[in-house]
Amino acid sequence: MLIAHITDLHIKLPGKLAYGIVDSADFLKRCVSALQSLTPQPDLIVVTGDLVDTGYAAEYAHLQQLLAPLEIPLLVVPGNHDERESMRFSFPLQDWTSSSDFLQFSGIFGPLRIIGLDTVVPGEGRGELCAARLDWLTEALSADSETPTLILMHHPPFLTGIGHMDKIGLTGRETFAEILSHHAQVKLILCGHLHRPISSVVGGCLALTCPSPAHQVAFDLRPDGPSCFRMEPPGFMLHLWTHDGFVSHSVCIDDYAGPYPFFDDDGKFLDD
Ligand SMILES: [Fe+2]
Repeated sequence: MLIAHITDLHIKLPGKLAYGIVDSADFLKRCVSALQSLTPQPDLIVVTGDLVDTGYAAEYAHLQQLLAPLEIPLLVVPGNHDERESMRFSFPLQDWTSSSDFLQFSGIFGPLRIIGLDTVVPGEGRGELCAARLDWLTEALSADSETPTLILMHHPPFLTGIGHMDKIGLTGRETFAEILSHHAQVKLILCGHLHRPISSVVGGCLALTCPSPAHQVAFDLRPDGPSCFRMEPPGFMLHLWTHDGFVSHSVCIDDYAGPYPFFDDDGKFLDD
């Protein structure tokens, strides 16, 4: 099973730029066309939050227009820039847990169980897994300890060393790690929020953040570094599930020179 992972799209109203600079709609168009050109095609696309920039219903309508060319099933979880009710309305077919205020879900998709967590604290940049959300997760994991499981969440459950992002990091991550340490069926945790690829191990499980198809958070490990972004190469990730487990690839969206062959027509290594 091949899963495309996109995150932090930050779609605005048509014609508006994010932070006065980023044409996030144009970047998403380029991402959609990169996804369409993949061979083989992904079986599923997962989006780990910040689908839109300010949570307006009209931004979700704009997002849906931009995603419309994709004919691949899509699963989404909210980020700190999303608004729960607008998002629930915009993705009515997603099987959200109906008994909760949170936009969470757990379901079987091909050979995997995929669990989506809602780490949003309305009106704040930081994330939280409160007791109610962690109890729901424990129940979901305990109900099926056999099926290999993928978790989607916006805020990563680890500190990144990028000071200003860690200040709006995830509360409850210690308990989350403790829960995961009892559930070896969880094979991978996919996150957003950081707008760049970062990996860590949480409760014995690999956790990854993913580049944005638009702007990237500036690389800066100073504890008091400013909150800034850069127009580094936009990207997404591809996660291939086989009997051996997951293998994850980071993919650049834009065209670069090549591909160039390593060998000539006679099969000899090119070396001048
Ligand atoms: Fe974001």
